[in-house]
Amino acid sequence: MTNSLNIGLIGLGYIGKIHAAAYRNIPLCLSDPPVTANLAAVLRSGLGTEVKLMDDFGFDIRTTNPEEFFSHPLDIVDICTPNVLHMEQVEQAAQRKLHIYCEKPLAMNLAEARAMAQMAREAGILTHVAFVLRYVPAVRQMKALLEAGRIGEILNFRGHMFHSGYLDPERPMSWRLRHSQSGGGVFADLGAHLIDLIHYLIGNVAWVQAATRTYISSRPTSRGASEREEVDVDDWTLCTMGLESGEVGVLEVTRMAAGAAEETALEIYGSQGALIFHISQPNLVRYYDLDRKKWSSGAIDVHEFHGDRPLTQIWPSAKLSQGLMSDAHLASAYDFMLCVSEGKPSTIDFEVGLATQEVLEASYRSAARGGERINLPLES
Ligand SMILES: NC(=O)c1ccc[n+]([C@@H]2O[C@H](COP(=O)([O-])OP(=O)(O)OC[C@H]3O[C@@H](n4cnc5c(N)ncnc54)[C@H](O)[C@@H]3O)[C@@H](O)[C@H]2O)c1
Repeated sequence: MTNSLNIGLIGLGYIGKIHAAAYRNIPLCLSDPPVTANLAAVLRSGLGTEVKLMDDFGFDIRTTNPEEFFSHPLDIVDICTPNVLHMEQVEQAAQRKLHIYCEKPLAMNLAEARAMAQMAREAGILTHVAFVLRYVPAVRQMKALLEAGRIGEILNFRGHMFHSGYLDPERPMSWRLRHSQSGGGVFADLGAHLIDLIHYLIGNVAWVQAATRTYISSRPTSRGASEREEVDVDDWTLCTMGLESGEVGVLEVTRMAAGAAEETALEIYGSQGALIFHISQPNLVRYYDLDRKKWSSGAIDVHEFHGDRPLTQIWPSAKLSQGLMSDAHLASAYDFMLCVSEGKPSTIDFEVGLATQEVLEASYRSAARGGERINLPLES
């Protein structure tokens, strides 16, 4: 029998729409899912836009009033709002003992992330953070090959995420460009995904040294306005890091790389081989085997990492793919729904979100001190 979970979505902006579509598409993209989603309620800052879309998604209630939203019967609260709102919305959901799916980065800063993880622990609820790159098939293959020891001892790694969307100096201000609403710029926004991949694939971070740049220091307050507002977050960040077991690596992120089409890559080099994930080949990791002196694609002869839910249960087949990022968000949302229906913790819970927040905090501290080496864990 199919179990239906009531989803309460907070925020219906860019990613809120992708989450809503993911819930709706689960029965379309996966055969006979044992759990489906009922888009029960949407909480928004205004109801005047996307009216037709909300009709199509079929939310039982739409509201701008948190009390009304939370008085509706909900199983999962899904938070898709600007970072500054995550903590208060987590608190509201945790007080009512509702399970929480929260967008990344988990919080504005480490203190908030610690408080949110504590709230979840005390409420005894299940939590999940949208580090969706963990679900990309090539990343899963990377994990399998690493677990099988195929590249030997890991020596170093190099990751980057390059976007180009903020190159236009006339692009107006938004919450992402205000520290008071985002908690950080591109490193918090994109770097968080890469830091999480390092935690997932290799290990915990022991120290960081970072540098940041803000290339466009003020932007129009709104499109076409002559008045400008100061930008106080990073457009570019370079972070060198060492891991607890000695591996070293570098992460570089920018929202101002001309020609970059959402470029994401991670390379890991070891004593016996190398692994390269590039977003242009999301289904196949490139693997270099030093013994055979050969590059190959994919990981056909290794088993998926047993700690993860197999992708065969949660990833749309090629013919039903809605595109890479939509598929990844579907897999992430559905993985958490299965966790909730089974009463089992997610492997990407708030503790995992907290670990990434700590690396973000250390990196921004390092950049503010001219690239000083900052050791982790940070003091409480
Ligand atoms: N995992 C990913 O791949 C990914 C991608 C993009 C964004 N994100 C994250 O998702 C979150 C939202 O980002 P976005 O790009 O969708 O932003 P956005 O600006 O497009 O949308 C934010 C939405 O929140 C709504 N909102 C604002 N205040 C609200 C309130 N008090 N109550 C309810 N709704 C409110 C806004 O009206 C807007 O619709 C951020 O944390 C961001 O970092 C994650």
